[in-house]
Amino acid sequence: MCGIVGYIGHRDAYPIIIKGLQRLEYRGYDSAGIVLFDGKGTKLAKTKGKVEDLIKRSKESISLEGKLGLGHTRWATHGVPNDVNSHPHYSNSGELCIIHNGIIENYESIKTALTKRGYTFKSDTDTEVLINLIEEVKKQEGVKLGKAVQIALNQVVGAYAIAVFDINKPDEIVVAKLGSPLAIGIGENEYFIASDASPFIEYTNNAVYLEDEEMAIIRLGKEIKLRKIKDDAIAYPNILELQLNLEEIEKGGYDHFMLKEIYEQPRAILDTYRGRLLADQGIIRMAGIDQNLERFTNANRIIIVACGTSWHAGLVAEYIFEDLARIPVEVEYASEFRYRNPVITEKDVLIAISQSGETADTLAAIKMAKEKGAFVFGVCNVVGSSIARETHAGAYTHAGPEIGVASTKAFTTQITVLTLIALKLGKANGALSESKFHEYLTQLEGVPAKVEKALESNAIIEEIAAVYKDSPNCLYLGRGYNFPVALEGALKLKEISYIHAEGYPAAEMKHGPIALIDEQMPVVVIATKRGHYEKVVSNIQEIKSRKGKIIAIVFEGDTVVKGIADHVIEVPETIESLSPLLTTIPLQLLSYHIALMRGCNVDQPRNLAKSVTVE
Ligand code: G6P
Repeated sequence: MCGIVGYIGHRDAYPIIIKGLQRLEYRGYDSAGIVLFDGKGTKLAKTKGKVEDLIKRSKESISLEGKLGLGHTRWATHGVPNDVNSHPHYSNSGELCIIHNGIIENYESIKTALTKRGYTFKSDTDTEVLINLIEEVKKQEGVKLGKAVQIALNQVVGAYAIAVFDINKPDEIVVAKLGSPLAIGIGENEYFIASDASPFIEYTNNAVYLEDEEMAIIRLGKEIKLRKIKDDAIAYPNILELQLNLEEIEKGGYDHFMLKEIYEQPRAILDTYRGRLLADQGIIRMAGIDQNLERFTNANRIIIVACGTSWHAGLVAEYIFEDLARIPVEVEYASEFRYRNPVITEKDVLIAISQSGETADTLAAIKMAKEKGAFVFGVCNVVGSSIARETHAGAYTHAGPEIGVASTKAFTTQITVLTLIALKLGKANGALSESKFHEYLTQLEGVPAKVEKALESNAIIEEIAAVYKDSPNCLYLGRGYNFPVALEGALKLKEISYIHAEGYPAAEMKHGPIALIDEQMPVVVIATKRGHYEKVVSNIQEIKSRKGKIIAIVFEGDTVVKGIADHVIEVPETIESLSPLLTTIPLQLLSYHIALMRGCNVDQPRNLAKSVTVE
């Protein structure tokens, strides 16, 4: 939800900000803007559209000099995406300038009060209200920018990561955070500000991640000063050394990040279990579980909260945990869970799954569960993210940066981590026999090579995509472990090709979706041999007798489904609980090719954003 970038130092800010915005474009891409300050005056360019449009607009309309700059790529909340609503925003005097990621919920009442005092507003945004509130506080209280920001933020309700400068202070930027992420890169007499570290990774490995309710005054030639927004207490910056490298955030020869990330899955799954799954020693080592084993083994139940694709990984985990560890599991949409006064006790363990580690609803669900005494465990991809910090313990997926908005490798690596946890718990509480445990370890070790093999079906999948690219609807069916995979396959198609798709448990088809089936309707059925195979084959027959078109995902060597389905995509055989790691792959590729053939923007689908930091 919006990406912010800032720079202050000895280099030209323009190229740093523009490149940074391109790297953050996954966070939102309906409009973009930049402001540059050369010590004398500011130059502002903003436009509806993408960073590409901003480059054009800024080159045509402003001089690109300035050693201080702020940039923004937007996912609209208040006000439609247009030039005027794009950030940065000036205060009425033109002396203060802001970029903001988040939402100011009480902006209406502040706006009314400011209007009574003579303030006018060009845009419909909450952000323009905030910068004018800061200006008003600065005037009324006669304080410096940092203090004015602090007083103003104590009057707002909502979420923010902001960067503000004052044209009277050319060597200073003030930043603050609550709910939305903000990282500060520390270079040699230069500072970088961004929603994540990717915009500054080639300049410095040293970064500070602001905690919620912290602000920083960033002044050239001085060390960063951190303080708490609420009570002015000094906070000490925890300077981290970043592990990220440039290669990981570039396309590396692929046409799209999504395709690159699909193909990275064998490596990503391997990285996820590397150092954890020690098959030769017959153990799984995971510090976050080892140190809290009793919390898990004594748990009444495990509650899984997540959103989007991560929620689908949670559904797979429900099957795995109950099957392998015999612990009752409930899977909840974080957005529902947080608002429905759920029963949570100290004997519950909550597992929060999130690629970004920043999803606002998931974060709120965690905070609520913590307040009620539950033990909270995070499964995140982004190291140091808010959810990783907010949870009592956790396990990273180690998938590497995922930039394509439609999640791919995050899903399979989340399932991998959750499988490791379930195996560990099943062994610890005696639900899994020694021999079963070893069988799982060996099978899991074999998954990356099998995913590699599954990717070899790409050409066949492309041919199938060409046949169905113009279908207005598509149905996805699966049972057991592959029911969540059907949901995920449908979500992928919806997200990037804008085709209406629904995922259903195969047996539920007869309670509704079967009415939709005619000769126009493609139905993707996951029919792997181990999971309720005969029953799924019957479902396929039911669809065929109503002239539906079947695209079946089967294990290698299947002959029965081959004889009935219109198209068959094979994946290598594995045990049932690991099959989602393989059956997901063709569904990702199918949606990728269909979207591409329909001329859709695969990496940045309309209206979506990678990291949803608003509720
Ligand atoms: C957004 C993304 C999805 C993602 C969901 C949850 O909707 O577009 O790809 O699955 O958020 O995100 P998280 O980072 O918490 O996994």
